Amino acid sequence: MFGDKGTTIGRCLAWCCVFLTYHVVSEAPAADVNDVLVFTVASNETDGFQRYLRSVEVYRFRDNLRILGLGEPWKGGNVVNYAGGGYKINLLKKALEEYRNDEKKIILFTDSYDVIFLGGLSAIVERFLDTDARVLFSAEAYCWPDKSLATHYPAVSRGKRYLNSGGFIGYASDVYEILDKALIKDEDDDQLFYTTVYLQDELRMRHKIKLDHKSEIFQNLFGAVADVELRFKGEEAYLQNIVYNTVPLILHGNGHSKLVLNSLGNYLARAWTPNEGCLACWERTIELNKTKPGMYPVILIAIFIEHPTPFLEEFFQAIYRQAYPKSRLHLFIHNTVPYHESVVYDFFERTSQEYLSAKQILPSDGISEVDARKLALEHCLLKECSGYLSIDAVAHLDNEHMLKLLVEQQRGIVAPLLIRPYKAWSNFWGAITDDGFYARSFDYMEIIKNERRGLWNVPFVSNCYLINATIIANKATRPTYEDADLDTEMAFAHGNRQRGLFMYINNRLEFGHLVNPDTYDIRLAYPEIYQIMDNKLDWEKRYIHPNYSESFNPDNKPIQPCPDVYWFPISTLRFTSELIGIVETFGQWSDGTNQDPRLTGGYENVPTRDIHMNQVQYEQHWLYFLKEYVKPLQELVFTGYYHDPPRSLMNFVVRYRPDEQPSLRPHHDSSTYTINIALNQAGVDYEGGGCRFIRYNCSVTDTKPGWMLMHPGRLTHYHEGLRVTAGTRYIMISFVDP
Ligand SMILES: *[C@@H]1O[C@H](CO)[C@@H](O)[C@H](O)[C@H]1NC(C)=O
Ligand SMILES: *[C@@H]1O[C@H](CO)[C@@H](O)[C@H](O)[C@H]1NC(C)=O
Ligand SMILES: *[C@@H]1O[C@H](CO)[C@@H](O)[C@H](O)[C@H]1NC(C)=O
Ligand SMILES: *[C@@H]1O[C@H](CO)[C@@H](O)[C@H](O)[C@H]1NC(C)=O
Ligand SMILES: *[C@@H]1O[C@H](CO)[C@@H](O)[C@H](O)[C@H]1NC(C)=O
Repeated sequence: MFGDKGTTIGRCLAWCCVFLTYHVVSEAPAADVNDVLVFTVASNETDGFQRYLRSVEVYRFRDNLRILGLGEPWKGGNVVNYAGGGYKINLLKKALEEYRNDEKKIILFTDSYDVIFLGGLSAIVERFLDTDARVLFSAEAYCWPDKSLATHYPAVSRGKRYLNSGGFIGYASDVYEILDKALIKDEDDDQLFYTTVYLQDELRMRHKIKLDHKSEIFQNLFGAVADVELRFKGEEAYLQNIVYNTVPLILHGNGHSKLVLNSLGNYLARAWTPNEGCLACWERTIELNKTKPGMYPVILIAIFIEHPTPFLEEFFQAIYRQAYPKSRLHLFIHNTVPYHESVVYDFFERTSQEYLSAKQILPSDGISEVDARKLALEHCLLKECSGYLSIDAVAHLDNEHMLKLLVEQQRGIVAPLLIRPYKAWSNFWGAITDDGFYARSFDYMEIIKNERRGLWNVPFVSNCYLINATIIANKATRPTYEDADLDTEMAFAHGNRQRGLFMYINNRLEFGHLVNPDTYDIRLAYPEIYQIMDNKLDWEKRYIHPNYSESFNPDNKPIQPCPDVYWFPISTLRFTSELIGIVETFGQWSDGTNQDPRLTGGYENVPTRDIHMNQVQYEQHWLYFLKEYVKPLQELVFTGYYHDPPRSLMNFVVRYRPDEQPSLRPHHDSSTYTINIALNQAGVDYEGGGCRFIRYNCSVTDTKPGWMLMHPGRLTHYHEGLRVTAGTRYIMISFVDP
């Protein structure tokens, strides 16, 4: 038995030793594992087949495997419903002819697309020998395809009663005789064929045909999902049958249990281990940096803007920043939102020349989402692409290596994990209900929190994914976005599941995030400013001063232009100019008299020309701003004062100008502390202006837009607004904790 493996001891000393130990363990029953033949039928190397083959390799019996029917057209009827299968019998019968009289050789047959090995051949054979059967079939809870045969089955006290033909093991001569009992047409049902044999007492006795009622070897999942539990023992995941207290060695996702199989398959057969993480992730990959940039696979990036979406500029910047040679990228943009046309136009004008090609579909072209997605796939083929990156406007690719990493992963359909920051919302589903809707998988939270990293076979991905062009080129597998009344995402995922195409979600690294378009209201002037609560991360990037957090650095002393007056960078210039834009668009400035119907008392002692935040629907947002960004600064400099959340009834933009109200007489504020954010530039946008604290005879005049003054409101900080002599000065004021 060593002869054909290694001829000299020197050549394979280590290997022989391993083999020897391994063999001794399984020697007790006289089976020679080298002599066992494993058969399966597969006409295509589908994702399921790859997974099957991987498990064979993990348990090291690739040499025992015989794959029947590969590359030949499937003749067993409708693959989708897995009817038929007489074809499998006929292929196996032909393959076994040469062993028809071999009473010693053991034959193991399984399906492939929906089967994973959970253990090695020696363990499987050992357990088979323990059963004392000559042929052992797997068993399940349903009598199928002919229910009426149920009563003909021998009763079992415990265990699954009915035969399943997805897996069996037996001696070659017996198996062959069974296969040879009758003729079967390719498209007839194989399970019915075997059932008929099994139910004949005489044949059952003669061939000692038994069923693996308690999943000693074969675990069929359909109708038995609740029987099993994924467990970890040291470095390896295994499947425990908790009903029969067995640890099955071959897992079959028969019937509607394929999604459960996919989910378990993410761990089993050493795909993922607690310490080493995702082992399967390293298999079948390429390294692009071994390739010249000019030889990178050509990818079509198809961008879909189907709804008003916040932070679209940043979306495009992230696309542009992808570290992938633009000479290997085609662009395709479908925009249906007129509001976004200028941003798309700008991106297109500035960058399209750099890409291999760029095509744009405008809102005025009136092309529906479904048609656009179809067109984009065809466009990919037309451009002889190697991959197709579909990306919706909500998906921000913060990691500039995202595309490169997805290509290197080499899967048919793979999506980067993207989540809405601070939320449990992501671009994949871990499980799905029977009627096709969202269900939370056992590992969903661990995956989105990156507590488990890896490559996960899931039933639904959306928003951003890479599809290998071979899938698009093949009419039998080309994705579809149209399916009855399903939306495009559901249709896409559903179609892929039907076609047996695996969809992987990848969280090996952080790739980016999703923006939340739900409350984005393009009727507002500068609608992004209103996204402070719903898209906080993007909001901060656009609107919070880049040096904001420097104030919290203990090495930096806060700036104090006057006693107990502190000065902080807080917002970007974009924020200050957009806030001016919002109030000027609204335009209803108060008249500067003491009568102010906006106030509860109707009277303002020290009136200014102003617009309140609640007049521009920004009150709640501003209070959030105070809580998230102002309060921490207050606690930094006025230690011991703690008020959460900060309250403020008066939040307003003031306008000073020579011909309207140029200054404000000395006054106290009705606040514990006041903040005053300069919105435009002294000496540029206006002359004069500033704030003078009378007690200290101290003025702050060189105010900078985006910088905030913070000072006590009363008693010590009696103050006035200095005269503006030219131009217009804008400041944003809040009286905090009145
Ligand atoms: C399977 O392979 C056959 C022949 O090679 C091909 O015609 C068919 O389109 C393939 N089916 C799928 C789903 O890839
Ligand atoms: C190439 O890429 C791999 C991972 O993708 C990385 O580990 C390696 O350091 C890279 N090598 C160079 C020279 O950039
Ligand atoms: C698509 O798959 C083919 C065949 O496996 C491979 O050669 C090619 O590099 C893949 N394309 C991409 C973009 O990964
Ligand atoms: C942030 O601080 C650094 C160092 O003080 C300075 O060089 C930089 O200009 C500041 N950034 C902005 C936007 O003011
Ligand atoms: C206040 O300061 C200004 C300029 O610093 C100075 O000219 C003026 O005399 C001071 N007034 C008082 C009352 O100290």
